This record gives sequence, structure tokens and C-alpha cells, in this order.
Amino acid sequence: MKLLVTGVTGQVGFELARSLQPLGEVVAVDRHMADLSRPETLAGLIDRVRPDVIVNPAAYTAVDKAEDEEALAMSINGAAPGALAVAARRHNALLVHYSTDYVFDGGKTAPYLPEDTPAPLGAYGRSKLAGERAIAEAGGDWLVLRTSWVYGARGKNFMRTMLRLAGEREELRVVADQIGAPTTARLIADSTAQIVHAAMRQRQSGQFESGIHHLVAAGETSWHGFAEAIVAGARERRPDSVRVRRVVPIGTAEYPTPARRPANSRLSTASLEQHFGVVVPPWQQGLALALDETFD
Ligand SMILES: NC(=O)c1ccc[n+]([C@@H]2O[C@H](COP(=O)([O-])OP(=O)(O)OC[C@H]3O[C@@H](n4cnc5c(N)ncnc54)[C@H](OP(=O)(O)O)[C@@H]3O)[C@@H](O)[C@H]2O)c1
Repeated sequence: MKLLVTGVTGQVGFELARSLQPLGEVVAVDRHMADLSRPETLAGLIDRVRPDVIVNPAAYTAVDKAEDEEALAMSINGAAPGALAVAARRHNALLVHYSTDYVFDGGKTAPYLPEDTPAPLGAYGRSKLAGERAIAEAGGDWLVLRTSWVYGARGKNFMRTMLRLAGEREELRVVADQIGAPTTARLIADSTAQIVHAAMRQRQSGQFESGIHHLVAAGETSWHGFAEAIVAGARERRPDSVRVRRVVPIGTAEYPTPARRPANSRLSTASLEQHFGVVVPPWQQGLALALDETFD
């Protein structure tokens, strides 16, 4: 089996290049080999590589900047996944794509189900929703995995920012009224390998169904709760790395950003277990692993 992975320099792409190895030959490409801002070039790449599976973690992920660059975000997150889906269908390949909790407005009081109606609050969410829709329109065999609050020992993410600030400041002020599940890039990649394996078997037996699923760690917390757990974990592993004394909860209104964010980012993973037998661990387990890797 041949697997093409985009965005190999990103958090999830980097981990996928490792996690998918046991499944077959992995061709991992960066933006120079697959530029998603030029969707019209992607069919040629797929024709050359001829993959059985395309996994697309590459994305425009700058949530606030997207408010000023919506056309570029739309091209990378909307048109490019559509082009990949059309090419995948032509080659009878499975397309696995990632989306986000930001397709929802956060107004629901329970965890979101895959079939809940999206209502993005900002340009990034709109562009990711456009990608989901372009893939569904293209037809063929595809899976969209929505995830949230992605982090890990490498890359640009909340955990690494908190670790840096905790070493510099006495007080951190962190938003406490947005809730979700911090999810490591490694969990996403390892689960994707399990999902691809199961999906390919289902395709062979004619039981595969294209669709959207949610892939996040179990449990929930706020950004403030996550920050407290990060600081506690750092203090435990390397006390001299932590200067901070207080992690103060604040409201979203006290930390204005160009893009609005959903208050409720919780995503139900029930369909993932039902379709692919994937049981996700609690978010605290991923954090412990990411901190171990950071302080090793
Ligand atoms: N990060 C989160 O908190 C979060 C939350 C929910 C969903 N997601 C989704 O999860 C997936 C993976 O996210 P991530 O956190 O791994 O993202 P990331 O670390 O920001 O990586 C994004 C990747 O996309 C690549 N990329 C950007 N523009 C490109 C272009 N024009 N052509 C080709 N590649 C391009 C980047 O390449 P360069 O390194 O060259 O820039 C990088 O490899 C994405 O679909 C994202 O929307 C992420």
C-alpha cells in the first residue's frame, strides 16, 4: 500500500510520517512538493505518486491571520482538499482529511456530534467547512476527521507557549470560559493509522462508508485548566524551569482576538469507536507523554 502525506513539516504531518509506516510505503511531502495554495497543481502530483491513500494534514492554520487572508485560507483549506478528493476518486484512493471544532459556533451545551449543523464564527472555520463540503461533493471514498486544540512536543502550540511563558513570568492570565479537549498530534496520527487500516479492510469487503468523524482526546477542560496542568507537569519534571506563581482564570472578553472562538469546542468521538474501534485516552495522558518528550 502506498500512502501520500501532505504537510510533513506540521505537527500532525510530522507524526503521521512515522505512524503510517507500518501500513506501507509512505511518501511525505512538504509545501514545495505539494503547494495547496495552487490547487490546480495537485492532480499532477497524485498522477505521479499514484497513492492508495492520501492523508492531508496540511492546512492554513493561522486562525486570527485568516480574518485578513480569507481568500488564501479558502484556497488552501477549501479548494485544495476538493482537488485532492477529485484526484483521489479518479485513482480509487482513500482520502483522509482533517477539520476542526471551529466549524461550530460553540453555542451547543453538549459535545458536538459529526452531524450537527456547522456555523463557523470566523474565516478559518469557514475555509475548513468549505473543504469538508468540497470533499463531500467530489464523492469517492473519504473521511474527514475533525479535531481540536492540537499540540505536542514540537511545532507552534499552546503547550509550548505556556512552557515558555511559565519560565519568564510570575503570573499567567488564561481564558477559562472556552472548553474543549487538548489533543496531541501523536494521538491524531496513531489513531489515523488505526482508522486507515480499518477503512481499507472495510473497502475490501464493501463495507466502507465515507463520512465525518470527531477525533479528539477524551475528557474536557478550559484553556486555563490546560495551562494549570502544563505548569504543574513542568514543575514536577523540572522545578527550575518554572517561574510562574499564579495561573489566573480570565474571560474571553479580557483577551480579545481578531477571530471569535467557540465557547464549547467539545466533540463527541462516539462514531469513531463505533466505525473503527478507536477508543481515545483522556487528554491528561497525552499531556504527560508530551511533557516527558519535552523534558527528556
Ligand atoms: N492546530 C490546531 O489546534 C488544530 C485544531 C483543529 C484542527 N486542526 C486541523 O488539524 C490539521 C493539522 O493541523 P496542525 O496543527 O498539524 O497544523 P500545523 O502544525 O500548523 O501545520 C500545517 C502544515 O500545513 C502546511 N501548509 C501550510 N500552507 C501550505 C500550503 N500552501 N501548501 C502546502 N502545505 C501548507 C505547513 O507547511 P509549512 O511548515 O511550510 O508552513 C505545515 O506543514 C489541519 O487540518 C488543521 O486545520 C488543527
